[in-house]
Amino acid sequence: MRRGSLHGETDLNSVTFSSPVLEEIKLVEDRMRMQADESHSDLRAALEHLLAAGGKRVRPTLCMLVGNMLGAPLDKLVSLGAAVELLHTATLVHDDLIDGALLRRGLPTLNARWSPPATVLTGDFLFARAAKLAAETDHLPLMKLFSETLAIIVNGELTQMFTSRGLISRDNYYNRIYAKTASLFEMTARAASMVSPVDDEITESMRDFGYQIGMAFQIADDILDFNGEQSAVGKPLGSDLHNGLITLPAIYYAESNPGDPDILSLPSGGWTHTENMTRLVEKIRASRASQQAMREAEQHVDRALAILDSFDNCAERHALESLAKYIVDRKM
Ligand code: IPE
Ligand code: IPE
Ligand code: MG
Ligand code: MG
Repeated sequence: MRRGSLHGETDLNSVTFSSPVLEEIKLVEDRMRMQADESHSDLRAALEHLLAAGGKRVRPTLCMLVGNMLGAPLDKLVSLGAAVELLHTATLVHDDLIDGALLRRGLPTLNARWSPPATVLTGDFLFARAAKLAAETDHLPLMKLFSETLAIIVNGELTQMFTSRGLISRDNYYNRIYAKTASLFEMTARAASMVSPVDDEITESMRDFGYQIGMAFQIADDILDFNGEQSAVGKPLGSDLHNGLITLPAIYYAESNPGDPDILSLPSGGWTHTENMTRLVEKIRASRASQQAMREAEQHVDRALAILDSFDNCAERHALESLAKYIVDRKM
């Protein structure tokens, strides 16, 4: 049950946001694939498995579109795009191990096939290669930003692990999704602008654009965890709640149903009861909570679109608009 990559035959027609950069994304993928060339054969096989599983390549697409729109040199964008996607891949390898997730992109995760030590080390290797690729942009502020972003992501994962389980809190939720997802989108758009011949004001606009679509992306991801089609999403549905992660649809549901016993049970560990959580997932699916959460994601997309208004009307701007809209319309 392998999902088609967005750049495979199946989805191409429905995708307009990647069309101006399809060739460049291939360069990014080649660059990623080269990273294990000199390494242990099992590591090469693992990287091949991870790359073959596809993925939407949303982050390198964002990198290429912003950089092309602003006139960045191609070689720096390819290094940056590969660095960002490898960093993303590394965080997923570790995240799936932490979560005990067995399915990702419709295929078995590394931890489903390998021991935890081998999975941890593969993730470490990918982090190292991502840092090397970031350094190949020859841009010191960009490298600082890259490592600061990784620190934000890891700190977010730790916060999620130690202080978020079962917690019904909007503040905690927004901080968490910034750390684990929006920070990387923000960094990608900002860094692509930093290697372009533009002033700080434009870089700030691009940073905000990345932030807005990143927040929308994670809210949409959290909605898909409740309302998606499992075959499209590529991982089991309802897993956030079963892991004690209270996302925006659950928060809306809790606000409308404060006396629901399953909701009341969450802060004291009720999320560990599988049957109760399966029931709660069903109640949330049947409620208006996901629609309400979607409205918030759409507000972020509207802010992102407003930022683009001040840029020249070019193919890249058009594709960035499609990308922003796709983020809330996507099914996977
Ligand atoms: C998954 O990201 C992790 C989140 C931040 C929600 P993507 O949905 O971009 O994953 P792939 O790369 O397309 O598989
Ligand atoms: C993963 O977020 C983001 C990071 C690894 C930083 P999620 O845990 O929400 O992603 P999925 O749901 O497993 O794809
Ligand atoms: Mg996860
Ligand atoms: Mg998720």
